[in-house]
Amino acid sequence: MNIRPRRNRKNAFMRDLVQENSLNVNDLIQPLFFLEGENKKEEIASMPGQYRFSLDLLLEEVARLQNLGLKCVSLFPAIEESLKTSDAREALNPEGLNQRAIRAIKKQFPGMLVMSDIALDPYNSDGHDGLVDKNTGEIKNDETLEVLAQMASVQAEAGSDILGPSDMMDGRVAAIRKILDEKKFFNTSIMSYTAKYASSFYGPFRDALDSAPKAGDKKTYQMNYANAQEAVREALLDEAEGADILMVKPGLSYLDIIAKLKEKTALPIAAYNVSGEYAMIKAACEKGWLNEEQIIIETLTSFKRAGADIILTYFAADAAKLLN
Ligand code: PBG
Repeated sequence: MNIRPRRNRKNAFMRDLVQENSLNVNDLIQPLFFLEGENKKEEIASMPGQYRFSLDLLLEEVARLQNLGLKCVSLFPAIEESLKTSDAREALNPEGLNQRAIRAIKKQFPGMLVMSDIALDPYNSDGHDGLVDKNTGEIKNDETLEVLAQMASVQAEAGSDILGPSDMMDGRVAAIRKILDEKKFFNTSIMSYTAKYASSFYGPFRDALDSAPKAGDKKTYQMNYANAQEAVREALLDEAEGADILMVKPGLSYLDIIAKLKEKTALPIAAYNVSGEYAMIKAACEKGWLNEEQIIIETLTSFKRAGADIILTYFAADAAKLLN
């Protein structure tokens, strides 16, 4: 044998030398949940180690994340049931919980990038990402775009760095880019949830925000998990509409989609390692069936190998600690 691949694995120095991909704390985004009140830190039952914080404690958490070297957080407000309506109007309240959180974080931590979510589900009494037609139950596309655009404007005004449309309505990126340009928010980025699949992996997230759809499912807007070419179609549209970054979601069962989009576009690709993926790993580790530190780094590195430039993950803080 003159060719022996094991030569490149003979010791740790050699393995490090030839390593193709590595995890970097700069690429990680920590999603955060928060609610009204003071001094509250409620653990999310299906996401051990993840909490809903009141704003005072949310700021302490951001300080901790910054000290770990993290550069970006993604905000998900848990809206009080009494504020949820069928027109999701609380989403447009400049003094709403989400906007106060954006302002408070940017004021206290100007160096921390804030990403915020554009979709109606946390505010919609129907639990859908778009407006629901009372008579037919249909999720109305173009009417929803108007609300999403206003929502984008309110969040950009509050100081959000990156808007994350997670609703999967057609034409949302164009609608958001248009209003941002009109209002001269030229530096507000759009990280589009480009290939967002109708997935059972979102269950724990919907527990965290109490945001599950009241009727039906999200299959008329989120993608069929059997499809890959359709993700390319969505990616080309989002790119043409003015997105800055494209996201694939969920992550782990969709590494093929990440790799595919990486080939089809020059835009940065983000992967969302979603709540159900976090819950599965946590549960196995609690049972002692997996080694948590090893599995976190292996999982996140697999996203890099697939082609992700950015990873949204509930393990961001843990990974940052391990990388330090
Ligand atoms: C909703 C939204 C969801 C997630 C992020 N934004 C859930 C859904 O579409 O029902 C899921 C994130 C996760 O599971 O970690 N706009």
